[in-house]
Amino acid sequence: MKNFFPDKVLSLHCDSLTKPTAFVRTYGCQQNFADSEQLSGLLQAMGYGFVTSPDTADLIIFNTCAVRENAEERVFGNVGALKKLKERNPNLTIVLCGCMFQQEATAFNFKKRFPFVDIIFGTANTGRFAEFLFRHLFNGEKICEPRGEFDTEFDEDKPVKREDKLSVSIPIMSGCNNFCSYCIVPYVRGRERSRSADAVVSEAAAAIAEGAKQIMLLGQNVNSYGNGFTRLLSQIDSLEGEFFLDYMTSHPKDCTKDLIDLTAQSEKITRRLHLPVQSGSDRVLSLMNRGYNRTRYLELVRYAKEKIPDLSLTTDIIVGFPGETEADFADTLSLIEEARFDSAYTFLYSKRSGTAAAELIDDTTADEKAARFKRLLEKVSEVGLERYQSYVGQTLRVLFNKPQSGKSRQGITVEAATNRDLTGTFADVTITEAKKVSLIGALTN
Ligand code: 5AD
Ligand code: SF4
Repeated sequence: MKNFFPDKVLSLHCDSLTKPTAFVRTYGCQQNFADSEQLSGLLQAMGYGFVTSPDTADLIIFNTCAVRENAEERVFGNVGALKKLKERNPNLTIVLCGCMFQQEATAFNFKKRFPFVDIIFGTANTGRFAEFLFRHLFNGEKICEPRGEFDTEFDEDKPVKREDKLSVSIPIMSGCNNFCSYCIVPYVRGRERSRSADAVVSEAAAAIAEGAKQIMLLGQNVNSYGNGFTRLLSQIDSLEGEFFLDYMTSHPKDCTKDLIDLTAQSEKITRRLHLPVQSGSDRVLSLMNRGYNRTRYLELVRYAKEKIPDLSLTTDIIVGFPGETEADFADTLSLIEEARFDSAYTFLYSKRSGTAAAELIDDTTADEKAARFKRLLEKVSEVGLERYQSYVGQTLRVLFNKPQSGKSRQGITVEAATNRDLTGTFADVTITEAKKVSLIGALTN
């Protein structure tokens, strides 16, 4: 894909020989950010430069998320606001893609509501972006392609433009087979498919050679990685050099003791386990089709904390699932106490049409849900602060991504009192104070 008809693109957009520019906005999860790095990689190979504001761009991409309704609403407003940019610059190309537009009804609705948009496609068609752009730029076609078959294999030759060269995200698989009853992901990302271990390991090795200090392996459910996730992780773990090795997301039903044992022995694998629990109630977990119960989850947590004493456990929790009772919710609060999460992403249940849970009767009032959400946040921050306070006095290895702050091996933001610029380096920090979302400390030497 190198130098893909760059000259023609140049002449279409510009009078002078300056590069045409692109602005890429990404919503949603890490997977989606990784997709944007591929779309940008392609644009870069075609001769585009990049700008940080849509105002001056020749091409604008919104790569969207469909996981909750409020994510979709934000996109709606932001697309509407592009109309005046298009009026000012008729040569502007506007592209909408990602999970939202894998839903046909949404794609055609946007096409109708926002006729100034040029190209719309869903996640299954990410690999056809070059073709769509070509058809638009050269034939003036308006494109709306929410359908399409998901690839069964990874295309390994795609260029990537990395946003962050220090902490590099590498997709190891794509799609999801779990069909949790609330979740749209299996519908908008297709079935699970894994990359070859060779491709992943060589991409990691190349990133490290180019100076990456953190490798983040991405998948909706990394534990079901085709050729064995523990094996893949240990292969990358044995690469030369100092780097943090991290992964997202682990599904409690498939997270193995092997993986925890490997983490315990490793010098590089981060001391963070993000293990989304969603609910503490067995009844709700079963309605969610999660494939584990409270007891099994807590057993896994106990095993992990025993093997890895400096482990930071984080989670995702949904409140207000259809039919969630006060007793179910109380089970979630007590699970937070028992599991002792360092932090949690908390979500109000959002009905996604097409999912199994959308068919369930939801008779909890919005006020009740809002009150529970508030109590949930209070419990999460209470336990989180206690956990953060337990780091005071400990020495943590920190990767600095800013002059005086970075992320510890636990994935926690640490600020160090120093005048030096530590960007891009590792240092040990002895923690002196815990704040709500970060730790403060002094350099150990
Ligand atoms: N409503 C609320 N939260 C959801 N999540 C996924 N689908 C929904 C939904 N329909 C949350 C889950 C998941 C995280 C990425 O988003 O907690 O782990
Ligand atoms: Fe990521 Fe899911 Fe959102 Fe798509 S819908 S961007 S896979 S969280």
